[in-house]
Amino acid sequence: MITTENTAQLRAQIKAWRLAGETIAFVPTMGNLHLGHLTLVAEAKKRATKIVASIFVNPMQFDNPNDLTNYPRTLEQDSEQLIAQGVDLLFTPTPEIMYPKGLDAQTFVEVPGISDILCGASRPGHFRGVATIVTKLFNLVTPDIACFGTKDYQQLQVIRAMVEDLSIDTEIIGVETVRESSGLAKSSRNGYLTADELTVAPLLYQVMQQLAKAVKQGESITEQISLAIARLDVSDFTTDYVKVRYADDLTNATTADRQLVILAAAFLGKARLIDNLVFEPSA
Ligand code: PAF
Repeated sequence: MITTENTAQLRAQIKAWRLAGETIAFVPTMGNLHLGHLTLVAEAKKRATKIVASIFVNPMQFDNPNDLTNYPRTLEQDSEQLIAQGVDLLFTPTPEIMYPKGLDAQTFVEVPGISDILCGASRPGHFRGVATIVTKLFNLVTPDIACFGTKDYQQLQVIRAMVEDLSIDTEIIGVETVRESSGLAKSSRNGYLTADELTVAPLLYQVMQQLAKAVKQGESITEQISLAIARLDVSDFTTDYVKVRYADDLTNATTADRQLVILAAAFLGKARLIDNLVFEPSA
């Protein structure tokens, strides 16, 4: 695996692969890799002949400076895992390489509307940071396809909208969430949970499953959301939001008349956990 932080080397390698007729799949990450990321790589390998991954803890998408400082950086273990998965090139830029003029002077990309709701409302500027770095990375890697986890459902929708709006010639592949046997979605943030919190954490997904079942049975969405929040808050979670939205555009769903998604974000100790559940309305 070639590892480089150098954008000129990255571009030269991509150009050489293109001239040789290779196709390129891209897996952008912030490192601290787990099985969820490795599943993205596995999906990428099915779809292209060369795999590029990136590890960059993107300061522009952190609304909380402590969160940025404490974000786990595990480059050595991550590299080993990517080598074992057969990744061809790992791009590991520094903030100075990606944002040489500093964040305040940086041109940014913002996807209106969808960036301001749900996690965007709780974490102002977060999706601007995501859209900007993903655009920059796409411009460097020029991938045919790029893989993102559906665990970050809103992020995936933001990226899909951005690619469409900016006519970016990259196919976006959403890859299914990988879960622990308890149902807890794999996430780098699970590393912040204590042993006790890890036993409570699966409740987030359980509550979402109960909510989906109740909505499918025709129960009131508003009432069931209140119940779900109460169940979480009584069990050590501090709920940020639980919402039921239309799965395609994330607008508010009041009736179960087309595909829906439950989106939830809740704090458990130091971790802010997010998860989602897409489901069909009852026939
Ligand atoms: O999902 C992530 O890890 C990040 O938000 C991404 C897409 C790599 C952009 O920094």
